Amino acid sequence: MSQLPRVYIGDIAGFDGQEVTLKGWVRNRRSSGKVQFLIVRDGSGSIQAVVSKAQVPSSVWESATRLTQESSIVVGGSVRADARAPGGYELDLSDLQVLQIAEDYPISRKEHGTGFLLDHRHLWLRSKRQHAILRIRHEIIAACRRFFDDRDFVLGDTPIFTPNACEGTTTLFETQYFDDKAYLTQSGQLYNEAIAMSVGRTYCFGPTFRAEKSKTRRHLIEFWMLEPEVAFADLDEIIALGEDLICAIVEAVLTRRREELDALERDVTKLEKIKKPFVRMTYDEAIEFLVGKGLDIQWGGDLGAQDETTLGEAHDRPVVITHYPTAVKAFYMQPDESRPEVTLCMDVIAPEGYGEIIGGGQRVHDLDLLRKRIQEHELPEDAFSWYLDLRRYGSVPHSGFGMGIERVVSWICKLDHLREAIPFPRMLNRLSP
Ligand code: 4AD
Ligand code: MG
Repeated sequence: MSQLPRVYIGDIAGFDGQEVTLKGWVRNRRSSGKVQFLIVRDGSGSIQAVVSKAQVPSSVWESATRLTQESSIVVGGSVRADARAPGGYELDLSDLQVLQIAEDYPISRKEHGTGFLLDHRHLWLRSKRQHAILRIRHEIIAACRRFFDDRDFVLGDTPIFTPNACEGTTTLFETQYFDDKAYLTQSGQLYNEAIAMSVGRTYCFGPTFRAEKSKTRRHLIEFWMLEPEVAFADLDEIIALGEDLICAIVEAVLTRRREELDALERDVTKLEKIKKPFVRMTYDEAIEFLVGKGLDIQWGGDLGAQDETTLGEAHDRPVVITHYPTAVKAFYMQPDESRPEVTLCMDVIAPEGYGEIIGGGQRVHDLDLLRKRIQEHELPEDAFSWYLDLRRYGSVPHSGFGMGIERVVSWICKLDHLREAIPFPRMLNRLSP
């Protein structure tokens, strides 16, 4: 078998009529007397291997009969096009090497409860559906990197251990840092702002942490955030960047991950409608809209999950909401000069009830105002002295945003819960596996 070229199932179309070696796992085996059918998957795809008693040595036939779900194998055989086969090809098996016979596999075709599946997340990832989500997540991240790299943004890497809060003190994760306390980062933004003053346009992409005490479909304790920051950009410019980014992501998934979207039974016509310009609303208009829909909401508070769901479901494109009340937003948000009770900020709400996928806006660039805002938020000024330096030495208006990758994966894959959007979710009551 060793002399046959080893190929991936995903590339099998290039080997029609040839003898090849495949390395993978048994998804399923069934037998009809003189023929056994193995579904072999190798991470790049799956294929049916046909074992015919009359065509193979008896040792190979016997080995095949012992194969259980998830057993690991190396098979040799010839590739044959078959229009009825799911991937268009089958393998006529001639040789089989068993690497390991899997024990009784805990995940079967029957329905399992969510708790059971999450306990077995390390195995659950092998299922067709989770495999499709993993691939789409990868495609989304690759599209994001391409997007910023093509626009000459510089990837800066921001720290995970931080001495201060970025997004409010209630969700801070405290940890020991030798004799000091440190906090796991909630956002790379503040450091991004420093990097932007060097390179002009930067982005970071990394894990962020929020000690969210609430259990919701939209919150993880550890999630990945993509954050661009642009020197001299105003609110409108940063909104345009967010629109372009989301359109680029959707287009990449639609053109490159059709098979996975199909595996998830995603209605792609909904994604095909994601085009510029997105719907724009000020916070005032959003409140008016929600009151009109019968929701009990007043001017002044942040929008809740239900408000976001209602706004998102009413439109077939993302909705960009700007000018939230200054009082409900983070200390670094630039107030609107003509109306300081609102800030130059934006949230992008996804369609189909997926809520906020992007949050960002223009940053305070005036030293005295920023100091005042830090005091009003009762944040420790000494921890922010380096951040205030950015306003002391060549301060410029600048803007940026953060996009939660799992929120985007969840929306594009139309998942019920963020827990499926990341390989190993960290949630309020779950730290393992
Ligand atoms: O709106 P947020 O809190 O904004 C920031 O952190 C800014 N400092 C980002 C910036 O301007 N550079 O978070 C940004 C995004 C949200 O829109 C959401 O998509 C995601 O991060 N997010 C979460 N995703 C999963 N679980 C959580 N607990 C999340 N909290 C926020
Ligand atoms: Mg937000």
